[in-house]
Amino acid sequence: MVLPAFAQDGAGLYQKNCAQCHGADLNGGNATSLVDGIWQFGAENSYVTRNIKFGIPHLGMPSYEKTLSDNEIRSIVSYIRESENNAGAQKPPTPEELETMDYDIHVETFADGLEIPWAIDFLDNNTALITERPGKLRIVKNGVLQPEPVKNTPEVLHEGQGGLLDVAIDPEYDKNSWVYLAYSHVLPESGGQRPPAMTRLERGKIVDNTWTDAEVIFEAPHETYRTTRHHYGCRIVFDPLGYLYFAIGERGTAEHAQDITRPNGKVHRIHKDGSVPKDNPFYNEKNSIKSLYSFGNRNIQGMAIHPATGELWATEHGPMGGDELNLIKSGKNYGWPVITYGLNYNGTVITEETHKEGMEQPILYWKPSIAVCGLDFYRGDAFEKWKNRLLVGALKYEEVRLLQIEDERVVHEQVILKGAGRVRDVSTGPDGAIYVVLNNPGKVVRLAPKPN
Ligand code: HEC
Repeated sequence: MVLPAFAQDGAGLYQKNCAQCHGADLNGGNATSLVDGIWQFGAENSYVTRNIKFGIPHLGMPSYEKTLSDNEIRSIVSYIRESENNAGAQKPPTPEELETMDYDIHVETFADGLEIPWAIDFLDNNTALITERPGKLRIVKNGVLQPEPVKNTPEVLHEGQGGLLDVAIDPEYDKNSWVYLAYSHVLPESGGQRPPAMTRLERGKIVDNTWTDAEVIFEAPHETYRTTRHHYGCRIVFDPLGYLYFAIGERGTAEHAQDITRPNGKVHRIHKDGSVPKDNPFYNEKNSIKSLYSFGNRNIQGMAIHPATGELWATEHGPMGGDELNLIKSGKNYGWPVITYGLNYNGTVITEETHKEGMEQPILYWKPSIAVCGLDFYRGDAFEKWKNRLLVGALKYEEVRLLQIEDERVVHEQVILKGAGRVRDVSTGPDGAIYVVLNNPGKVVRLAPKPN
């Protein structure tokens, strides 16, 4: 095998440090193969690099932070990539069948060839809406992805993690035809500066494949917009009383999550027409953002209302090793960045504190982080035993997990889908199947119980 110079250094370092576990030919041994196209803990270079640098201690993968320089780790990663290519490693195809503790599941492709799909929701039994982050709203009708995206949808800033994010259908869609979108909104450029952006919400109707009657229902004060391009949140959910909840990530400035004069790092509650409930917890505080509902939330990209209790549950991306599941309550402080179970991505400590008076504890946290994204309580009939269990998506670990919750505690967790792609969203369909929105490749798969 002929290797470029930088990967040759990597080859030597690999043989010295890694071969005893992952095999001299990288094909595995005491530990997993690194050339089979399967990346259980994240496929991208950034994840592989972090897994080498900080290890996966609970599984016996050592940390190389103290023994290898960043450059040395980089050359090992190059060597692994080069070897993958030479071995013709390919990501295994999406499985057609899954075995879980309760059901054998059939997996089929529902929509394919999508560009960074982000969210799915259903207009009726035969029609799904799917957002693509670059700014398109797509329709799947009777199982067929319509070639033309919906025209005239809002312009979005597609940069970094931003773009067209969530889509949500009004619970009374039959009567009012409202559809809600969340997206990254950018202010006009001025003076050659990078224009600031923030998450914005709009509702509209789809008539003749065109977005019409558009109304902006949430727009943050422009002085709070940020020039960063990450941590926008955002999910939209409705509770049984008709309130609309959404979340905005802290936009890369951690301390803003504790500041109630800022919209970022928070959960918000509004009425569906955009008006703000007067009994919101910070409504009467001076200079506050009136729509705030909770604070200290780093970057929420999963939200769901419990079908029986009406409670609001949310998953948020923590820093390294601090992903959280939270039960969101009015006026509560979820602690970021004062308390967290995570570390900075460069391995340095953010805070020693995981608990503090007046700050909420997560119901569950994931260490290492699985990169939680997309959340839904299973609401259908097809998987009878899974009623009201929580479906949790994971980008980095490419997983859908199923959590059983009792009395605000997670009593059981199982992985039901793994390795099919980065999971952006999970949703119960009107037919009771579970729909999973994937990136790399950009598609939606449908999980249904296999008939016995
Ligand atoms: C003492 C044994 C050991 C050594 C030495 C070791 N690893 Fe690992 N590594 C593991 C184990 C265990 C795992 C977890 C997966 C598994 O169960 O095999 C792992 C996981 C990984 C993963 C994540 C794989 C995935 O599927 O996402 C990467 C990447 C990795 N190792 C790279 C390296 C590199 C590079 C080195 C050398 C610098 C190295 N490892 C040295 C034991 C080891």
